[in-house]
Amino acid sequence: MRCIVLITLLVALSCGAVVESLVRHYSFLVLLKNERKVCGRKNIMTVNGKFPGPTLYAREDDTVIVRVTNRANHNLTIHWHGVRQLRSGWADGPAYITQCPIQPGQNYVYNFTLHSQRGTLLWHAHISWIRATVHGAIVIFPKLGVPYPFPHPHKEKIIILGEWWKADVEAMINNSTKLGLPPNVSDAHTINGHSGPVPGCATSGSFTLHVESGKTYLLRIINAALNEDFFFKIADHHFTIVEVDASYTKPFKTDTIFISPGQTTNALLTTNKPIGKYLITASPFMDAPVPINNLTATAFLRYKGTPINPPIVFTQIPPQNSTLLTNQFIDSLRSLNSEKYPAKVPLFIDHTLFFTVGVGVNPCETCVNGVRIVAAVNNVTFLMPKISLLQSHYYKIPGVFTEDFPANPTFVYDYTGKPPANIQTSNGTKVYRLCYNSTVQLVIQDTSVIAPESHPIHLHGFNVFVVGKGLGNFDPTEDPKVFNLVDPVERNTFGVPNGGWTAIRFRADNPGIWFLHCHLEVHTTWGLRMAFLVENGEGPNESLPPPPSDLPQC
Ligand code: C2O
Repeated sequence: MRCIVLITLLVALSCGAVVESLVRHYSFLVLLKNERKVCGRKNIMTVNGKFPGPTLYAREDDTVIVRVTNRANHNLTIHWHGVRQLRSGWADGPAYITQCPIQPGQNYVYNFTLHSQRGTLLWHAHISWIRATVHGAIVIFPKLGVPYPFPHPHKEKIIILGEWWKADVEAMINNSTKLGLPPNVSDAHTINGHSGPVPGCATSGSFTLHVESGKTYLLRIINAALNEDFFFKIADHHFTIVEVDASYTKPFKTDTIFISPGQTTNALLTTNKPIGKYLITASPFMDAPVPINNLTATAFLRYKGTPINPPIVFTQIPPQNSTLLTNQFIDSLRSLNSEKYPAKVPLFIDHTLFFTVGVGVNPCETCVNGVRIVAAVNNVTFLMPKISLLQSHYYKIPGVFTEDFPANPTFVYDYTGKPPANIQTSNGTKVYRLCYNSTVQLVIQDTSVIAPESHPIHLHGFNVFVVGKGLGNFDPTEDPKVFNLVDPVERNTFGVPNGGWTAIRFRADNPGIWFLHCHLEVHTTWGLRMAFLVENGEGPNESLPPPPSDLPQC
């Protein structure tokens, strides 16, 4: 039985005795708003006037219908990052990949079902750098009556980490693209839209997380930043990690959370310390000689009953380049792999793929230095098409993309050693075709062209199992021997280490066109992106349905 509810407050809504799943309606009005939480620029693009935007609440197996109305001055799409979009690729959202943008004054209804997922995800704009301010949380509760596989928390709190530019972000990225130069790093980092003190900023306040003593809280932490990996800490407190990217994990304790753009982490926090005010920090991680915004965003954890003007309990900020801490966190992540939530790791592989990722330099007549910094996958810098790949695929419109994305690098060299003499990339709009329900092993190898660097890689439309990672060049005979095929972490955004590789496995059970890209927006902009084309299987239950009638046109 289905019923329709308007979600403004989330309460146990029921129509009749047993409610299996609901249809949840949301309305997203994208508009400019004068936002004063952080300093600099006045008008930012927001959803419903909020920064960060509204939270989508739903339960596993619910259908979510979001009407997005574009009242801003820029083309727009919204992506539901990590939502599987099983046979609903038209609702996925990356501009020119699954849809044309919603133009100013237009609207589009995103309609998707949250099949077999529960936990925290995020939504964000998926065109240019608009997600800097257009983003928010997705909270998927387990089905009614199904408990969490960990102690039920007293309360749940959403923590969204972000990045803030004092100047207009769109003008900045357009200008740097025109000149072929790296974009400016951000001017502040934010925790729930507040930065804490920032040099040269008068208006910045701090976010406060209010808690009671002796309780357990579930923190739903989201990295919505464009280009920054974060260490997240609360002075004197530990976390128990229970879920990442809406997949349950084996619980483990840590005092430092490592989280990359596009990733989400659910952590239990027990408030068992003396009543007081504790510093919360989100500080950047970077282990390559790449410029970043090195400011730490600060917030406070405040116990109920803390007196006015208490001393603040401080914490030590992790060293910015601590690869050790990132590895400790990543290596502790394991799928829960219980009877109820098994890790269905593909054991037999149909497609064995090897992709290199990194940057390059291409000639550019109009650029300041005569060259442009680019990025590539298997040395192909992905060019955005003029109409969406999914439309072109569905309607068989020729000339939009080619299917010759290479399964392996076309030029073999010592990827993490001395870069080759020619570091130019080739340009193209290429996809890799996968049969329906085939299994894929993909090794992504960082290269040291210009400088090796870590990359949070995001795959749309699937969860992947991270079966292995290592330093240096991947060894196809030795390295697979130690892959974890039992309880590897399951996620939608996974790190490729600086000067190393990561191996993932997934089942191509979702027909459509699915974007794969670095979730550092600067690298995506430079071309570190490609797409998979997954064929239909048999019959309507294994095929991509026709597009909705309001699908935007280019
Ligand atoms: Cu969160 Cu293609 O992005």
